[in-house]
Amino acid sequence: MKERPIVSDQEMLRQQEFMKLVKALDARPQSYHIVSMGCQMNERDSESIAGMLNEMGMRHEPVREQADLILYNTCCVRENAENKALGNVIWLKELKKDKPELMICVGGCMTQEKGMAAMMKRRYPFIDLVYGTHNLYKLPEYIYRVLTEKRPVVEVMDIDGEVVEGMPEARKSRFSAFVNIMYGCDNFCTYCIVPYVRGRERSRTPEAVIAECLRLQDEGAQEIMLLGQNVNSYRGGGAAFAELLYRIDKLGIPRIRFMTSHPKDLSDELIAAFGELEHLMPQLHLPVQAGSDEVLRRMNRSYSREHYLALVEKLREMCPEIGLTSDIIVGFPGETLSQFEETLSLVSAVRFDAAYTFIYSPRAGTRAAAYPDETPYAVKSERIQRLIDLQQAISLEVLEKQVGKRERVLVEAVSTRDSASVGGKTPRGHMVNFPGGAELIGKFVDVEITSAGRNTLRGRQIISEA
Ligand code: SAH
Ligand code: SF4
Ligand code: F3S
Repeated sequence: MKERPIVSDQEMLRQQEFMKLVKALDARPQSYHIVSMGCQMNERDSESIAGMLNEMGMRHEPVREQADLILYNTCCVRENAENKALGNVIWLKELKKDKPELMICVGGCMTQEKGMAAMMKRRYPFIDLVYGTHNLYKLPEYIYRVLTEKRPVVEVMDIDGEVVEGMPEARKSRFSAFVNIMYGCDNFCTYCIVPYVRGRERSRTPEAVIAECLRLQDEGAQEIMLLGQNVNSYRGGGAAFAELLYRIDKLGIPRIRFMTSHPKDLSDELIAAFGELEHLMPQLHLPVQAGSDEVLRRMNRSYSREHYLALVEKLREMCPEIGLTSDIIVGFPGETLSQFEETLSLVSAVRFDAAYTFIYSPRAGTRAAAYPDETPYAVKSERIQRLIDLQQAISLEVLEKQVGKRERVLVEAVSTRDSASVGGKTPRGHMVNFPGGAELIGKFVDVEITSAGRNTLRGRQIISEA
């Protein structure tokens, strides 16, 4: 990974000036609503966007239709993500008819696709601002221009990407925080559009990451999730990811997690960290994508089935309680029935706690989009259903094994289904619901697991006698 330039402090000061200028305008949006689609990277970006909009004097409006500014932070990893984003945008056109002063902004991965910004400019002239993943930090300048020039701004940069420090932020949670450590991806898996829309791999310095963690700790963070498309290929200021983790562990934040890891970059040092670090939680998301060597080769994943299984074995030797989760693609071009069945047998062998399963979706510009694909969609649907059934049975067995255990849960929220219960995660990442009130949110509670459902556990609080 090459060292990438950092957007200068001077530029960030310029953007701060624009925030003040927008704030001082009489005719400007008073409230905003952000729709964040896709992965945690986008969620984290949305926190920066919210921070900037707050500094421009706007307030968050929970009801989308009532906001003066609506911003879509889009995803395009699969076609349905893109269709959802475009469908939403078209719907906004109607809303704007009733409310002409509404400001519509669209950014994120989708606008970064080849030809997309030009298409949007031509076909959706009611969108006020289109920006990309590389120039998010310029949002204040663009919003100022839209408001003063009174015409749409479409600015998407076709660059590899830089590191941006010092953007304002409005965090969703006080006690559980995302910390970006690297951006972009250089792996070019043949099905994946992310390297095209997020640019080349680049890392923040360990100093910047640690300073952010310390600040979050001061503000009450109990858990941090280190983020990157490929966290384990992190290399900042010469330090590898495992070194960074050891340094963060010393800060004493109770819980550390990270995602996503690529199997080809999972070093022995990183595996050892699961046995050694006090605050690193026994949980790892390690996408396998497929169980057949031939499919893995055509996906350009750079590891074999055997290598993946060996990693799982080493991880479990180091940390027997580790909860592994995965991403799996079904129906990659040319996948035969027996190759698909190798995915099933791998899933049976590994026994993931959970897996996110996707039917392959061709993305324009990626190598696999040009591969012949003769398997009918109906067959792919049948395959994914077999995989889902298998994984659900395994997930349930894994959860049932937790019954009777005592677990420390970091409470996240009141349960959506039962307002007299709260939910939070165990160290291994299992969601537990148990009777309790909102005052427990952000706190650690010892819970006895009493039963297992399909995706979550139930429990009861252990009240200590002391
Ligand atoms: N950087 C991460 C995640 C990237 S996107 C990683 O390497 O694991 C999240 C998941 O979406 C991927 O793991 C993959 O399983 C899935 N995905 C990506 N492109 C896809 C496509 N074209 N069709 C279907 N699933 C896809
Ligand atoms: Fe996409 Fe592969 Fe990069 Fe993950 S590692 S973001 S799947 S190209
Ligand atoms: Fe989607 Fe972009 Fe994330 S394409 S999955 S939002 S990196």
